[in-house]
Amino acid sequence: MATDGEPEFVHRTRACLCVLCGLPAAGKSSLSRTVCLSASRSGWRAAVVHYDELIPDQAFHAREPEEQTEWKLHRHAVLQCIEEFLKNPKMSLELPGGCRIEGSAWEGCIRSLLDPPLGDQAPLLFLLDDNFYYPSMRYEVYQLARKYSLGFCQVHVECRLESCISRNNNRPHPVPTEVIVAMEKRLVRPNPKKNQWEAKSVSVNATGNVSECDVQNVLELIGSALSDPLSPVEDDTEQKEADRQKCAASVVHQADQACRRLVSEAMKKARENGVSSEHMRSLAAQLNQSKVQFLQNVRKHFLQEAPFIREEDADVEHAVKRAVGLFDRDIEEILSGIMTVKDQSGMATQSNDNGIY
Ligand SMILES: *[C@@H]1O[C@H](CO)[C@@H](O)[C@H](O)[C@H]1NC(C)=O
Ligand SMILES: *[C@@H]1O[C@H](CO)[C@@H](O)[C@H](O)[C@H]1NC(C)=O
Ligand SMILES: *[C@@H]1O[C@H](CO)[C@@H](O)[C@H](O)[C@H]1NC(C)=O
Repeated sequence: MATDGEPEFVHRTRACLCVLCGLPAAGKSSLSRTVCLSASRSGWRAAVVHYDELIPDQAFHAREPEEQTEWKLHRHAVLQCIEEFLKNPKMSLELPGGCRIEGSAWEGCIRSLLDPPLGDQAPLLFLLDDNFYYPSMRYEVYQLARKYSLGFCQVHVECRLESCISRNNNRPHPVPTEVIVAMEKRLVRPNPKKNQWEAKSVSVNATGNVSECDVQNVLELIGSALSDPLSPVEDDTEQKEADRQKCAASVVHQADQACRRLVSEAMKKARENGVSSEHMRSLAAQLNQSKVQFLQNVRKHFLQEAPFIREEDADVEHAVKRAVGLFDRDIEEILSGIMTVKDQSGMATQSNDNGIY
């Protein structure tokens, strides 16, 4: 019986998680079927994990980038099912209660793995067929592979936007064209040069018919991933990611401190210039609102990008300086707005000689 920390499986079978990413109708499913067939012929136990079939329609339509939460929960449920299979193949047909994926589709997906003509020692291959347009989505699969010391590789199925749209329109249940166009803008392709964890990636041009040579390349990539599984101990990707998250938090914190100083300097200057208390209240509210919004943007940008950018690009000091420079311009605009109102209302004015700006 497999225990949670140390599944039996890991000690007796080689396995690989292969991510296929690309736009809708790029040709991922067709390529994954071809690869699955070839893999089976070479004696591997192979299955295509076809997200469109596993995940109910409702979530599929919520797949527009703006409505990702529901989709994210479903993606996690798929990975959980794969994990259950890795821990205890025989039990994995019964989905856990409240599981968000289609039971019959999951059964279809793994049935051939459970009753293989080649015995359960044969290498195991999961081909994950979804759009995976953000690195963070693919990274979730990488983490699962690491946890169980599996092989991991990625195939970017490339296809011209116009071809995807026209193929999609010929399907019985097309995805709205806007979804494909929006996804094309967001898609960040695997970048093995930049990201160590994406080292085993290939790109396949599926604009026309995929060549036999491309299929061979994919099979070789999978073979190489199978014989070079990830190691939870030696790889420090997670630690690096944690460091970058910390770095992003630090940028936001330092930017917050600097913004507070700028706000109080601006208030002081306005007071010295004889701005009325009514206008001072309005100024305080405007500056505060501007600061809150500004820090939200800084935080959002960094938390989104930090885990996937190179360390040398994540220079805290530089980032804070640049961010605060932008906020300084906002303040100047707000302040000059208030000063103008004050001047027009005929109050005492003072020349701008205190040297802050
Ligand atoms: C992909 O293939 C199509 C034809 O099948 C070709 O027109 C296009 O230039 C190729 N794209 C790349 C990036 O090689
Ligand atoms: C692509 O494959 C189909 C079916 O195998 C064939 O009819 C078609 O001529 C091929 N197209 C090209 C450009 O090779
Ligand atoms: C600043 O604005 C935020 C939200 O807009 C509000 O919660 C906070 O109380 C305000 N702080 C001050 C000092 O006005």
